[in-house]
Amino acid sequence: MSERLDWVASPTARPLRGEIAVPGDKSISHRAIMLSALADGTSRITGFLEGEDTHATARIFAQMGVRIEAPLSGERIVHGIGLHGLRAPEGVLDCGNSGTAMRLLCGVLAGQAFDSVLTGDESLSRRPMQRVAKPLAQMGASIELAETGTPPLRIRGGRSLRGIEYASPIASAQVKSAVLLAGLYADGQTSVTESRPTRDYTERMLAAFGWPIESGPGRAQLSGGHALYATDIDVPADFSSAAFFVVAATLVPGSELVLRHVGMNPRRTGLLHVLRAMGANIAEEKQRETGGEPVADLVVRYAPLRGIDVPVAHVADMIDEFPVLFVAAACAEGVTKIQGAEELRVKESDRIAVMATGLRALGIRVDESQDGAMIDGSRLRGGRVESHGDHRCAMAFAVAGAVANAPVTIRDCANVATSFPGFVDLANGCGLALRTA
Ligand code: S3P
Repeated sequence: MSERLDWVASPTARPLRGEIAVPGDKSISHRAIMLSALADGTSRITGFLEGEDTHATARIFAQMGVRIEAPLSGERIVHGIGLHGLRAPEGVLDCGNSGTAMRLLCGVLAGQAFDSVLTGDESLSRRPMQRVAKPLAQMGASIELAETGTPPLRIRGGRSLRGIEYASPIASAQVKSAVLLAGLYADGQTSVTESRPTRDYTERMLAAFGWPIESGPGRAQLSGGHALYATDIDVPADFSSAAFFVVAATLVPGSELVLRHVGMNPRRTGLLHVLRAMGANIAEEKQRETGGEPVADLVVRYAPLRGIDVPVAHVADMIDEFPVLFVAAACAEGVTKIQGAEELRVKESDRIAVMATGLRALGIRVDESQDGAMIDGSRLRGGRVESHGDHRCAMAFAVAGAVANAPVTIRDCANVATSFPGFVDLANGCGLALRTA
């Protein structure tokens, strides 16, 4: 794990201005490495996220014999070795902080001829893995977990997998993706239906690599026994990383900030609907498609916000944006109510508890419930908050510091490098005042 690092976020002296590009999408970058590694031929990935999470995925495939070149930052040339070309790794496969790496790899590794062991850092070692082990076991996989249902995971190879019809009780793209990836190796048809539609990058990317798949919101279906064919992938900027700047520019008076080339997949952009319902002024310009994904430039202007009841229908489409929504809600006039978001309790940290505790330390009234919170907006004070090593909570508190009446010290921010390398420089470049403590 990275060394401990604290930040001090001071009130901004000026509005946020200019044009910025945040790093590449994390979900797409993971999948681009995985599918190009398993494809026949050589794929080129551009816009790749140079984060610790996606580096972990690339390192794991290299451990299993895949040659991956990095000619430039944000670029990877992946020499695919075919669906059955992976080799038994030496040693354990360390997923670091990344739930996506671990859960999607479970699906891939369940179909291999060799045994493997997946581990992670302190946070990942506390996260629930039954949700993937259970459907994969129904397919015939053998995955042993710790008694607590958490990593390390021991996956036995040489099992023959069969397709299943899986009605996922949890709205989780990671669970859906693990089952579909195992389905590549299974006899017969594998289908997944979801209680609420989640991000569909695995489905879209499988189709881009030539695997026959039928999918729509909340459902996907494929059969084993085909091949993946190399293709080039252009990764757009990560909406979840853009979200911190969208909220910061909304909250700091006089701001007008342009975020370039942001991925606008409708399964990711729930925050825009919610912020607009709260009064935000966010325009989408230059709407276009890149590599089958909608992208746009976002133009965000300062606007005062009012509290709302966040529609439960948007929760899955903004699941990673709640930390920064808590901050927007803290600055809004009136009460914001969040419900139906119990998944937040099993992310990189318990995000409901971490954000509620942090905002209370900054003078905001927050009532927690099991699946959400009520946040009563008022003036944020300075103070000291714990991010609990959660990258998104750390960045959300940095936004809080920009609009508080005195500096906010944020503890344990090193994991921001998992998803957003260069956050501090980019933030300072467009008007925030953030430094390491
Ligand atoms: C992800 C799915 C989501 C999200 C995570 C990335 C993915 O997790 O929170 O950051 O890339 O599939 P869940 O599937 O647990 O909801």
